[in-house]
Amino acid sequence: MTRPLEGIKIIDFTHVQAGPACTQLLAWFGADVIKVERPGSGDVTRTQLRDIPDVDALYFTMLNSNKKSLTLDTKKPEGKEVLEKLIRESDVMVENFGPGALDRMGFPWEHIKELNPKMILASVKGFSDGHHYDDLKVYENVAQCAGGSASTTGFWDGPPTISAAALGDSNTGMHLAIGILTALIGRDKTGKGQKVAVSMQDSVLNLCRVKLRDQQRLDRLGYLEEYPQYPHGEFSDVVPRGGNAGGGGQPGWVLKCKGWETDPNSYIYFTIQGHAWAPICKAIGKPEWIDDPKYNTASARQPHIFDIFATIETWLADKTKFEAVDILRKFDIPCAPVLTMKELANDPSLRASGTITEVQHKERGSYLTVGSPIKFSDMKPEITASPLLGEHTDEVLASLGYSTEQIGKLHDAQAV
Ligand code: COA
Repeated sequence: MTRPLEGIKIIDFTHVQAGPACTQLLAWFGADVIKVERPGSGDVTRTQLRDIPDVDALYFTMLNSNKKSLTLDTKKPEGKEVLEKLIRESDVMVENFGPGALDRMGFPWEHIKELNPKMILASVKGFSDGHHYDDLKVYENVAQCAGGSASTTGFWDGPPTISAAALGDSNTGMHLAIGILTALIGRDKTGKGQKVAVSMQDSVLNLCRVKLRDQQRLDRLGYLEEYPQYPHGEFSDVVPRGGNAGGGGQPGWVLKCKGWETDPNSYIYFTIQGHAWAPICKAIGKPEWIDDPKYNTASARQPHIFDIFATIETWLADKTKFEAVDILRKFDIPCAPVLTMKELANDPSLRASGTITEVQHKERGSYLTVGSPIKFSDMKPEITASPLLGEHTDEVLASLGYSTEQIGKLHDAQAV
């Protein structure tokens, strides 16, 4: 099985999550990804939130599989020389340091381009170049606040809320991967590399597109009919938090199932799809609602949508979330159980598809990670362990033409 990115060499000058998520994805698809790390410490996530003393943390292992690790002090002349050689021989360099760090290190885009005009430099920053906040360092939750997610997530009577999904980090990495692949295809046509930049704020905002839709509708109409605030509540002049409302044209909510009093995840998400009204009424034992003018159109239902949800909860009271979904799926009703991380980790379908995959690590033993969410008909990415710090230093230096004696000297020069 050949992997499409085989032969593409990537300098992975990334840390934490946004950059590593991008390069990990490209490594799964065949790229030769060399992670450049500071001698002695490496990526900060190696030691963050450790569950086993002195062993790379899951934060690191789950974002750096299929890569090589090269330790290099790129602030020292010896390290800079190696980095220059690597740049001459590579296709892509990915970095997500704080603003200006690469320039301060002596590797501005102009210099990288001089060293290798075919190079694609891919950068993640919190804000885009020229933005009035472009000097800020940014982490996940900062990006969620800056990108419109926090102000529109949560309940209307509570504060802005952060999503557990890595909208600022991994999502930005996925945007960057699309940018890199596009630049690689562009390079095939022009023979020239280019700089690809993605900001975390922009990537979050891209996923909050429908909230910008809602802002414009609100500006025009003064209300948003699919939000729980309509028609009984108040709207201000900004898109409100909508709790568990769908955000699309189909009302939905998280509903309690049997056992919710003791199990905080005994819930399903239930969607009232307009054309599924008759099946819903049949499923929940309310056939008389099918033609009742109080219920038979979406706009008729909206004023008492929470009474409808309460009736559905009464029907759910003696059913577990799994039993409920097994009944509702027969009626073609879009719904799902609220699944816990434990349930997902043990889900046989996710194991079979490779979305949850078990990896063997030299020091940690086996651990679970999320494999490729992208499935191909002719390729199944094999997920291998993340590298130990500096595991491939000698191998990479030898491939750049360094002799054993020169490699020894480099180690001495970089000793910490
Ligand atoms: N050898 C020598 N120095 C190295 C090195 C190496 N191999 N690798 C990194 N460094 C240096 C950099 O040159 C920089 O030094 P400088 O600040 O003196 O110029 C420093 O290490 C890294 O700085 P920075 O990236 O700012 O680290 P930080 O821990 O202070 O900040 C972030 C972390 C994530 C907030 C910041 O990197 C950032 O804002 N990145 C862009 C947005 C982003 O990706 N956010 C995280 C998403 S998960």
